[in-house]
Amino acid sequence: MSKELFTELSTMANKKKLFFGAGAAIIMLMTAFRAEPVQQPVAVKASAERGKQVYVKRCMACHQADGGGVPHLNAPLDGASAVTGKDKAKLIKIVLNGMTDRVEIDGEFYSNNMPGNKDLTDAEIADVLTYVRTGWSNKSSAVTVAEVKAVRTKK
Ligand code: HEC
Repeated sequence: MSKELFTELSTMANKKKLFFGAGAAIIMLMTAFRAEPVQQPVAVKASAERGKQVYVKRCMACHQADGGGVPHLNAPLDGASAVTGKDKAKLIKIVLNGMTDRVEIDGEFYSNNMPGNKDLTDAEIADVLTYVRTGWSNKSSAVTVAEVKAVRTKK
């Protein structure tokens, strides 16, 4: 092999290394900075932990510890589309005012009445809904005190 060809080949190999090296660096950066959650994860976790206490006292008897509800009696909260969905205002209203609609929920009807929880503070409702939306298999965003306040004061 001529000296020129050798140098040519080794610069090519180095360029390739550089190329792959840069590619790997870009991928690492993308993984590190990928879609940062909008809410502070630590604050959400703390809210969910407080919410669990509210849940145990006020919701668990009907919706059960695993959020599975009771067939035909109490709607499940784990995996429920209304619970994990985008309409947080509707969810806040259900917890504030209760629910006796007998509407079809994800293909089922539930015969029990859900009582309202107007005596809970805005923070308690935000916490319990954050717990319910992030607990079990649910992976939705938190509910804030401001969102609860907005629904409660809007008449
Ligand atoms: C006495 C039993 C009972 C208690 C206590 C109760 N619920 Fe319910 N909940 C129900 C029933 C029954 C339904 C379905 C009502 C219907 O179909 O009209 C329901 C529905 C819901 C829904 C709507 C589910 C969907 O998929 O549309 C949410 C959200 C909910 N409850 C959250 C809560 C939270 C949070 C608490 C505690 C603060 C709570 N519930 C306490 C019985 C209860």
